[in-house]
Amino acid sequence: MLVTFYGHGCFKVDINGTHLLFDPFITPNEKAKHIDISTIPADYILISHGHEDHIADVKRIAERTNATLISNFEIISWFDKNFGVSNGHPMNHGGSWNFPFGKVKYVNAIHSSTLPDGSPGGNPGGFIVETVEKSFYYAGDTALHMDMKLIGEYHHIDFALLPIGDNFTMGYDDASIAAEMVKTKTVVGLHYDTFGFIEIDHQKAKETFKKKNINLLLPKIGEEINL
Ligand code: NI
Ligand code: MN
Repeated sequence: MLVTFYGHGCFKVDINGTHLLFDPFITPNEKAKHIDISTIPADYILISHGHEDHIADVKRIAERTNATLISNFEIISWFDKNFGVSNGHPMNHGGSWNFPFGKVKYVNAIHSSTLPDGSPGGNPGGFIVETVEKSFYYAGDTALHMDMKLIGEYHHIDFALLPIGDNFTMGYDDASIAAEMVKTKTVVGLHYDTFGFIEIDHQKAKETFKKKNINLLLPKIGEEINL
């Protein structure tokens, strides 16, 4: 499964030719200036919560690609009402849906979700994506929480995309506990280094995971990795 990092919380995952794009925040990201969003393919755009640093490029990419948005009911409604992006699939926590590429479950995150204009963005979430190829967990912005234990008990997680930047989300210490809870040996870090509050020491972060025999991957912005 090909995973491309576009900085901050934004990843593209390719599943048998279908492109899933998560939380696109690229054009406002100083560290992602070399990424040309007009070339990013997307069949689905999955949005974990309503904060600007997760939705900034949704409208532009959705308009060009006609991708289907997948998020909570409030965020899907907001994009429809404000921008006429009507190609959305609303979900809410605990719910799953079988898409042509696989099964998506919208799961809890501990965070906030107010939209940029102050509208309520529902409650923040993460996604479990289960496919015939591999299955993964995209945690979104979240603290460490006990529901992650349920994910590990009842889902097989080949790899997890977890926030590690601290301050606004869990840091890498808690993220390494999250990885143990969801029972994965492969983690890709997100939500770090974008701005001052979330700069981290890469070496220390990797060592923290290594002590638990978990591989922490920190791809460069624009880098593709095969998981
Ligand atoms: Ni956030
Ligand atoms: Mn964020």
